[in-house]
Amino acid sequence: MPLKFAYAGSAAYTHDTYARSADYLSMLASARHEADALVSAGVVAAHALTVAEIGPGNGGRSRAFLTRLAHRGRPCQRYLALDFSETLLDIACARLARFAGDRMSVDSHVWDIECGTSRGVERWRPGPEPVISCLLGHTLGNVEQPVTALANIRAALRPGDVLLLSVALGPADEPSPVAALAPYRSPEFRAAALQPLLAAGLDEADLEFVLGWKDGVVVGEAVLRRPVQVGGGVLPAGHRIRCFQSRRFRPHDVIAAVGDAGWQVRDALPAPGGSHLVVTASRH
Ligand SMILES: C[S@@+](CC[C@H](N)C(=O)[O-])C[C@H]1O[C@@H](n2cnc3c(N)ncnc32)[C@H](O)[C@@H]1O
Repeated sequence: MPLKFAYAGSAAYTHDTYARSADYLSMLASARHEADALVSAGVVAAHALTVAEIGPGNGGRSRAFLTRLAHRGRPCQRYLALDFSETLLDIACARLARFAGDRMSVDSHVWDIECGTSRGVERWRPGPEPVISCLLGHTLGNVEQPVTALANIRAALRPGDVLLLSVALGPADEPSPVAALAPYRSPEFRAAALQPLLAAGLDEADLEFVLGWKDGVVVGEAVLRRPVQVGGGVLPAGHRIRCFQSRRFRPHDVIAAVGDAGWQVRDALPAPGGSHLVVTASRH
């Protein structure tokens, strides 16, 4: 089951709760570092920015990111939120509109970056200035095919536009990375990961949630405790349904993925401690 369903419909509310938890925030690069990486890449001049953020989640980290950009002399004047989840877009935009006052316009558009490109940015584009597209908080680690998603974003933009991408790194070659799995062992995360199955009619009492690690990917699976009828068929006891994945990247792999998707990489800045990487690229 693609992870994106853990953000849509009723699952948007479980994600909103999870995204407020310390475990969630501990896994991501700080919004401050993401903003500083954009400034230090030297691709945006010191003036008001036009930002199109893909996957703003509940908007909490977006607010911190935009605040830091303003402190660094790059206030965002026009902001577009893009997401697969209409419900999360509503949650994020309500939060950002309260934060923005009349300093920043806030718009939104539904887009699944795994299902092709979109005319949403082009229809919204307010003027000739470059659009800074952001894919922050390790969202790229959740998609099935990272290069395809990055190419779809590129195709939605114009030459001169910018990509700011932040991802979590390694450890790809460790057999059991206890530290990588630790932040996922919370009740808030379990509720968020299982919500799409509950929305599909499964009973929580019938599901055991198991976390694992395979080839650099954190995998969460629901294991059926008894046979369960779904749609027209019956799934046997012991059947495993993958409902979560979070891929960890090695620095050269993520830089290569950005290049393979047709972007020109301009900078790659590791976070202090080396657990995250922020890549800035431009579209030629
Ligand atoms: C891990 S959350 C990151 C949220 C936020 N950027 C942060 O740093 O806290 C992933 C976000 O990307 C969105 N998302 C996941 N898959 C997507 C897809 N295929 N297309 C568009 N948005 C997607 C989710 O709905 C959610 O808002």
